[in-house]
Amino acid sequence: MNINSIKSRLREMLSKERLEHSINVSEVARDLALNFGCNVTKAEIAGLLHDCAKDLDYKTLQAMIKEYNIKTDKLIYKIPKLLHPLVGAAIAEKEFNIQDSTILKAIRIHSTGAVNMSILDKVIYLSDKIEPLRNMEGVEEVRKIVWEDLDRAMLMVLDKELLYLISEGLLIHPVSIKARNNILNKVVYT
Ligand SMILES: [Fe+2]
Ligand SMILES: [Fe+2]
Repeated sequence: MNINSIKSRLREMLSKERLEHSINVSEVARDLALNFGCNVTKAEIAGLLHDCAKDLDYKTLQAMIKEYNIKTDKLIYKIPKLLHPLVGAAIAEKEFNIQDSTILKAIRIHSTGAVNMSILDKVIYLSDKIEPLRNMEGVEEVRKIVWEDLDRAMLMVLDKELLYLISEGLLIHPVSIKARNNILNKVVYT
């Protein structure tokens, strides 16, 4: 499926705001991919599709996890926002016929992060957080640093995410803590 047919299919699946966000993410991802020498088309596709399951309700997401036999863990069901990346990767594969495992992985981990993220993984994770419609505190600083140092930008965003979850009294998936330790080791301790 090419970029244009992905876009027109997404138009049927997503709200106007979500579609706009997805297009923005794919545009930032394309520029970051160019900047860091990773595959531009893969970045665009992963950016477009990363939230393709985000407008589905909790029950539908649960049903699709069963239907597609998606590997998950019990904790994820208690953190509803972590379901859409898993289902999104499955939809990208089954309904958009994306076979590239690096694209599917970038979609799958775009909310939690992961240990040993590839450049594409980081590009998608960060594009999602810094696209023009995003306005989290400190986003301007990340928008500057990201062009020089993907890892430092990752660390800044992971720190912000974890601090937010703690301040709101929300559950943290251990994968996010591992991702942050992994990046922290790379940026500070090596
Ligand atoms: Fe998402
Ligand atoms: Fe997103």
